[in-house]
Amino acid sequence: MPTKIVSGQGGLARCGALAQSIGMAKPLVVTDAVIAKQDFCKFVVQAIEEAGLRYELFEDCAVDARLQQAESLAGLCRRKGLDGVLAIGGGSVMCCGKATAISAVNEGSLRDYAFPRLAPRHPLPTLMIPTTAGSGVEVSQFSVLKDEELHEKLIVGGASCFPTLALLDPATLASLPKALAAASAVDALCHALEAYFSSLATPLTDSIAIGSAKTLYNCMRKSVLDRDLDAQADNLLASSMANIACGNARLGLGHALSDPLESHLDVPHTVGVSVLLPRVVAFCAEAAPAKATIVAQALGGVPGQRDPIDHIRRSLFDLYDDLGLRKSFSLEQLPLEKASAIAALAVPGLYGGMVPHSIDNETLINSPALRSMTVKQARECLLACLSE
Ligand SMILES: [Fe+2]
Repeated sequence: MPTKIVSGQGGLARCGALAQSIGMAKPLVVTDAVIAKQDFCKFVVQAIEEAGLRYELFEDCAVDARLQQAESLAGLCRRKGLDGVLAIGGGSVMCCGKATAISAVNEGSLRDYAFPRLAPRHPLPTLMIPTTAGSGVEVSQFSVLKDEELHEKLIVGGASCFPTLALLDPATLASLPKALAAASAVDALCHALEAYFSSLATPLTDSIAIGSAKTLYNCMRKSVLDRDLDAQADNLLASSMANIACGNARLGLGHALSDPLESHLDVPHTVGVSVLLPRVVAFCAEAAPAKATIVAQALGGVPGQRDPIDHIRRSLFDLYDDLGLRKSFSLEQLPLEKASAIAALAVPGLYGGMVPHSIDNETLINSPALRSMTVKQARECLLACLSE
């Protein structure tokens, strides 16, 4: 994990010194219009000013990170001789900041560096201050961008594109609406558990994934419902841990099945993955009973008291009830007659790979999950998401 992580209450006060410690004297500060109004954001800007940094402030990051916006900000960096990017915001703002740092020092368009193509030059130093706990973008080597001209999503990044520093301070969660806090935290839990049930998992990723899942489960109610600062600090760190785990062991079936729901039926990412989570975890856990037992314990289970898979399912549903999250899709979100098509659309998976010319019931979903899923099983899994 190349990103240096500074975590805990009071961290924001150090952001000027931290920016200097990674070579910034004149950074571009990017945020969005909502975050720019928050006291913690004003505090960050004041702190870097007091530390003697000269900076340019851009407060209009789009709701989804835009390729054109990142390229235009990169132009600003070059014209003004800016030497780093400090991003304060959610996943979109941080993706915009990271892509700006790549574009500022590399020739041509970011389209030339759509993954798996790599930008030849190391990006400007980046400092990420997440204002939601869940996306994990602050420790990820990738940025997801929208190309407004070609109407495409593209990913830029690679091993040289990890953020330089992630500053996790629960003060940044002060204004986060409860519904968004809950959805983001459960997305992080999906990242952790999908990494844990991956065929690419190692003892190293497993320890981070299960540590993250356990912390998330234990802190989530206090973090989201009570806004307890210690719990929010745990939530932020565990979200970063989840992304470190899935950045290495990759994501599994929940994200693979959610992807076509998001792109074809406009189901929000957090709804897609959280409704799918209990079903796909149960599916994988059947093939990995030892791991199922460990996950059940991480989610508050007492050894030997209940079937581990049953416990995982029930503890997740109880958590969703407490946080006010959906346990199933509505028929508007997933019309019955669309389930087969969505299952087939999930075949390419998130990471590319061979897709057969014709897809039938026995075609496998491309996924690193430790249990393979056929299109038929994917359809059954989606249909199960329509009832609690
Ligand atoms: Fe996710």
